[in-house]
Amino acid sequence: MQEIVFATNNKHKLSELRRIVGDKFTILSLADIGCHDDIPETADTLEGNALMKARYVKQHFGYDCFADDTGLMVDALDGAPGVYSARYAGPGHDSAANMRLLLSNMQDVTLRTARFVTVIALILDGKELTFRGVVEGEILTQPQGTDGFGYDPVFRPQGFPISFACMTPDEKNSISHRGRATRSLMDYLLSR
Ligand code: IMP
Repeated sequence: MQEIVFATNNKHKLSELRRIVGDKFTILSLADIGCHDDIPETADTLEGNALMKARYVKQHFGYDCFADDTGLMVDALDGAPGVYSARYAGPGHDSAANMRLLLSNMQDVTLRTARFVTVIALILDGKELTFRGVVEGEILTQPQGTDGFGYDPVFRPQGFPISFACMTPDEKNSISHRGRATRSLMDYLLSR
C-alpha cells in the first residue's frame, strides 16, 4: 500500500483521516517519521498555515506530505475565531477554554450561523496543491455530547438535530469539513 505522511501528531485528526482513507493509503504521522518539532503556524490564512507545515516537513525531513489547517468562522463574530481557532482563549489554553470563551462572546447573539473550513496542502513530486472542505452549521448555546474534539460539542451541522460531538466518527466524517477536503485530496491522489 502507498504510504503518505500527514504532517500532524493530533491523534483525533489522524484517526479521522485513517477512517476516511480506509485501505487506499497508509497514513504516517510526524512521530512515525521522527519529527517531534513544534512546527510554526504563524500565517494569517488557513492556506498559509497548511502550506507552512507541509513545507517544513519537506525541507527538514525530506518527505512529500500533506498538512491541514482548520478554522471555525462565526458570522456574528466577523469570522472569528477563524485562523486563530486553536489559540482563541490565548496561548496554552485548551478546547474547553476556547469553547467557554466562544459561548460567552455569543451570549446575546441570536443569529448563530458558522462554518468549519479545512484546507489541506499537499506537496508531491515537486508540486504544491491545496484542497478545501467546508461544512455550514450553527453554534449551540451550550455544549452537547462528548465525542469528537475541539469545538465539536458546540457545532451543529446544518440539517442535523445534534452536534458533531453526538455523532459517530463515520457520521461526522461523511459531512465534515475535514472529510470533504480529504475526499478531494484522495480523488486527486487516486487519479494521478
Ligand atoms: P488546527 O487545524 O489543529 O490548527 O485546529 C484549529 C482549532 O480548531 C483547534 O482548536 C482544533 O481543536 C479545532 N478543530 C480542528 N478540527 C476540528 C474539528 O473537526 N472539530 C472541532 N474542532 C476542530
